[in-house]
Amino acid sequence: MVRRYRDGKNHLPNDIPIADVTGVFATVSAQGFVDLGNEFFQDLGANGRRCVSCHVPTAGWTLTPPELAAVFHATDGGVRADPFGLGAVFRTLDGANSPNADVSTLEKRRQAYSLLLHRGVIRIGLAMPANAEFDLIAVDDPYSFASAAQLSLYRRPLPTTNLKFDSTVMWDGREVVAGETVLQQLETQASDATVIHAQGKPLTDAQRSSVAAFIVGLASAQTFDRAAGHLHEDGARGGPEEIFAQPFYIGINDNFGDSKTGAPFNPVVFNLYDAWTCSCDRDGDARRAVARGQALFNTKSIAIVGVSSINDEPAFGTPDTLMGTCTTCHDTPNGGNHSVVLPLNIGLSDESRRTPDLPLYTFQNRTTKAILKLTDPGRGLIDGKWAHLGRFKGPMLRDLAARAPYFHNGFAADLAAVVNFYDERFNIGFSACEKADLAAFLHAL
Ligand code: HEC
Ligand code: HEC
Repeated sequence: MVRRYRDGKNHLPNDIPIADVTGVFATVSAQGFVDLGNEFFQDLGANGRRCVSCHVPTAGWTLTPPELAAVFHATDGGVRADPFGLGAVFRTLDGANSPNADVSTLEKRRQAYSLLLHRGVIRIGLAMPANAEFDLIAVDDPYSFASAAQLSLYRRPLPTTNLKFDSTVMWDGREVVAGETVLQQLETQASDATVIHAQGKPLTDAQRSSVAAFIVGLASAQTFDRAAGHLHEDGARGGPEEIFAQPFYIGINDNFGDSKTGAPFNPVVFNLYDAWTCSCDRDGDARRAVARGQALFNTKSIAIVGVSSINDEPAFGTPDTLMGTCTTCHDTPNGGNHSVVLPLNIGLSDESRRTPDLPLYTFQNRTTKAILKLTDPGRGLIDGKWAHLGRFKGPMLRDLAARAPYFHNGFAADLAAVVNFYDERFNIGFSACEKADLAAFLHAL
């Protein structure tokens, strides 16, 4: 599949079909090919890590448990070298449950990397910020490492594709710098990643801009669904090529009006599958299901309650209940991420959803003495604001089928589990058919 071109570089052609749970996805680069010579694939650090070690093109540009299992097996848990440096994901500093984990035998390595292997999460180590509105008063860490000096936060690598839609760099927006473009933030991010994950030196300006230009030029999406067939047929506009044509800017279709045109928020965010509403093609049944799922995503009414940054936000009028849709938060047309920098708390790191494999942190408000227990404080750990604890960005929703599990901590094993989470969290009352239709749509993105 890898071609060596006359300039001597290794190029991966655009649109290579890659199998996933429900069909096939593909990546295209605006360059016309995926340049395997880019710094993204180079060993620029000190521990064998490369960007591709954690952002794997065949795993939706992130990590997935099946892909990790294969690499673990092939490299004896990161001990044996491999040509692309994929095994280097198994490094204790942030690949293991704890940096102090014992990795002396294969069986110990299997235990040491259990969160990575099962949830596809990397340990992000962040300290309590100075001048926080809260204290960290207790740490319950099954791996006996975390403290105020370094909380262990286990997070899914965000895909390094479809970044044209990105408004908020990182789950907690910690690479967002006011006044900088997202491209500039991605350049800084590339250098920070080399220093933090690969224990290397900061990248040069030329390297930063080369990596950032490379990832921003990528688009990935599902192209074929085993039930619905080709996703760019019969009038549908699935697949990655369409992503290039899709306009995006920060604040597009924002809830308070489009930042450029001032047009009011339009809840109809996805229209890729409009033409399948009454498809009578050979795959018509499955195609109509995808179109019904799209309509549910756009219009099914959801009573949004208890979401910090909506229900407690003066801009929204601090409503007890905001009647919305999936698209209230996933508002970017045909991208599905939140088009503004406004991390939200939908409860994924609440104590009630804690599983024994994750740490639990107890925070106390310095003024009110209120207590909050979370597995990951999200945005609040960056800016020290009590109200921002547990907030995460509304991520991009394309190419989902390629990259289970979902949410920042891999809480949902598959898209059916995502739909069930929302159904319970917001008491939506989806019927079994509606759940299946919504999942069919999400799988076709
Ligand atoms: C050890 C694994 C690892 C390596 C190596 C790594 N990343 Fe990441 N990357 C992550 C994780 C985990 C996140 C999400 C962290 C968070 O949000 O707190 C992430 C997030 C990102 C994001 C944010 C995307 C978004 O939607 O905001 C970009 C961009 C990115 N990485 C680029 C890179 C580049 C470029 C390199 C190489 C220089 C690289 N990464 C190396 C694990 C890794
Ligand atoms: C109140 C805002 C809000 C609403 C309403 C909402 N989402 Fe989300 N969505 C988010 C946030 C925030 C995240 C990331 C949360 C996290 O990981 O902590 C997310 C994450 C996701 C993800 C995971 C993506 C990934 O890369 O892991 C999917 C899929 C998703 N939402 C689908 C939906 C669907 C389907 C609906 C409607 C049934 C919906 N969302 C309604 C805010 C919202």
